[in-house]
Amino acid sequence: MSDQTRRRKVDHISICLKQDIECKNISTGLEYVHILHNALPEMDLDEVDTTSNIFGYKISFPLIFDSITGGSRESKAINRNIAEVAKEKNLALFLGSIRPAIEDPNSLDSYTIARDVAPETFIGLNIGASQLSRGFDIDKLKSFINNIKANALSIHLNPLQESIQVEGEPLFKSVLEKIHFLVKNLGVPIVVKEVGCGISREVASKLELAGVSAINVAGLGGTNWATVESLRAKMFGNDVKAELGALFSTWGIPTAVSIIECAQTVKVPVIASGGIRSGLDMAKALVLGAKYCSIALPVLRASKSISQLSSLVDKFLMEFKVSMFLAGCRSVEELKSVRYYMDYPLRSWIMR
Ligand SMILES: Cc1cc2nc3c(=O)[nH]c(=O)nc-3n(C[C@H](O)[C@H](O)[C@H](O)COP(=O)(O)O)c2cc1C
Repeated sequence: MSDQTRRRKVDHISICLKQDIECKNISTGLEYVHILHNALPEMDLDEVDTTSNIFGYKISFPLIFDSITGGSRESKAINRNIAEVAKEKNLALFLGSIRPAIEDPNSLDSYTIARDVAPETFIGLNIGASQLSRGFDIDKLKSFINNIKANALSIHLNPLQESIQVEGEPLFKSVLEKIHFLVKNLGVPIVVKEVGCGISREVASKLELAGVSAINVAGLGGTNWATVESLRAKMFGNDVKAELGALFSTWGIPTAVSIIECAQTVKVPVIASGGIRSGLDMAKALVLGAKYCSIALPVLRASKSISQLSSLVDKFLMEFKVSMFLAGCRSVEELKSVRYYMDYPLRSWIMR
């Protein structure tokens, strides 16, 4: 891996662990969604079945650990703990961008560790759209998929992050064509995600036509990459990029809006993410039409210890289960047809 990539990955982890980098002045919009209360659930809390299924893998509830890291000693320890908890709690996970391993195959063990500790778990790999745009070696990608026995590949679209990043590569030419090529030739499901700016209905339609298997909205309201890159630019004394990041820190589609846009437009499963911070947020996202939720920052912050990450999952599960109970849902599927109401300003954010 180039020193620059290694340094950047370490900076991202350290900024995300130590600084306040979640959205301010703008939110996911999920706080404006209210699930209709069912005072007569006609079952016991224990009867609520939270299980779900992702590409044939049964999971204990529809939560995914989203892409965070890979490529360094630190990330190997993080990925080991994340995989350990995914196995223990029966959840799915996506590893961080495979780019470091493309640049330095010696760092591959920071990814394969996840498979070593969790042989039966659904594990996805991840790559950036700008790597695809620059051109990539499909055989190399296939060999990573084989090495890790990966169950899917997610591709991140991050034009804002690349525009702010000091050494960013805002190269997004012919990305859709490359996605279509991977759909046809890689042999595993392709998921396309943002990293915190959301996906619109127009983009969702194009992705569905290109054949992707799921869309992960990664909307505005959680980890804010304009802020992360702005803080990093400041560390490098690059005031122009630091200011650009601050200016664009409210750019994007709030998560609730993006879920609605995508779920009402495409038939492929929609993954809700970007600021999902409780099991109640999860239930709201599913009521809006998402099939799964994913989280990154809370996982990173709990990943130092297996017991801390386990407790985080237990908390999300209890909150999700109680939400289902109060909505009168015995199964996750039933959340789809639960009534809800929406407050302003979310109502006015829904674009026609
Ligand atoms: C430290 C860190 C590193 C990340 N690295 C990646 C990555 O390599 N690839 C990717 O697609 N997303 C990456 N993400 C973005 C997350 O997968 C997710 O889309 C985003 O953080 C929004 O979710 P959150 O608000 O729960 O953090 C990263 C997030 C964090 C916090």
